[in-house]
Amino acid sequence: MQERRVILETSRLQLREFVPEDIDALAKVLSDPITMQHYPAPYSRQEVANWIERNRRRRHQKDGYSLWAMVLKFSGELIGDCGLAIQNVEGQNEIEIGYHVRRDLWKQGFATEAARACRDYGFAQLKAPRLISLIRPENIPSRRVAEKNGMTIWKEIIWAALPHFVYGIQRENPAS
Ligand SMILES: CC(C)(COP(=O)(O)OP(=O)(O)OC[C@H]1O[C@@H](n2cnc3c(N)ncnc32)[C@H](O)[C@@H]1OP(=O)(O)O)[C@@H](O)C(=O)NCCC(=O)NCCS
Repeated sequence: MQERRVILETSRLQLREFVPEDIDALAKVLSDPITMQHYPAPYSRQEVANWIERNRRRRHQKDGYSLWAMVLKFSGELIGDCGLAIQNVEGQNEIEIGYHVRRDLWKQGFATEAARACRDYGFAQLKAPRLISLIRPENIPSRRVAEKNGMTIWKEIIWAALPHFVYGIQRENPAS
């Protein structure tokens, strides 16, 4: 079995690198039509496979970070993703915190727990001056996660042809 490198741990979760075998568990998240209601469409199985590959190769090997598999520590079960990804916002590269959680486990604080760990990692390890989350205005749960992650609305933009709020948080001491 392929090595599953753990990047971050919280009280209930591990965030680890994806492996190709994650496709079935991740499809339960990214192919769900309600979970993906703020996206153009739920992902096909092939799109989930491509998404895992993109995160494994392009993001992890090239940038040094990616969206990671969100795994329950007590069972080892993959229940979503959370992590960091470079996004081009109006011509400028920003580091985004992104998250998706399997629908039957919503409202148990998992996204907030993982997003806060990614925020701390982005500031402490990556020394990012700012972290963002790009969120459709009608996506109230995602906006709440961003707010609980200490973010506020920085600006409103058209991104991927749709209106998005850019939530942001600055590193407290950029010199350190
Ligand atoms: C956004 C998402 C990841 C939140 O996951 P989660 O694990 O349920 O989030 P949390 O349990 O940490 O909840 C965070 C806050 O959002 C609120 N919330 C979660 N789901 C909600 C819902 N359906 N309606 C209203 N509020 C909701 C929680 O109550 C909590 O706020 P509170 O502490 O003030 O009560 C999840 O809803 C999801 O996967 N959505 C689809 C994918 C998506 O849109 N991702 C973000 C793209 S920008």
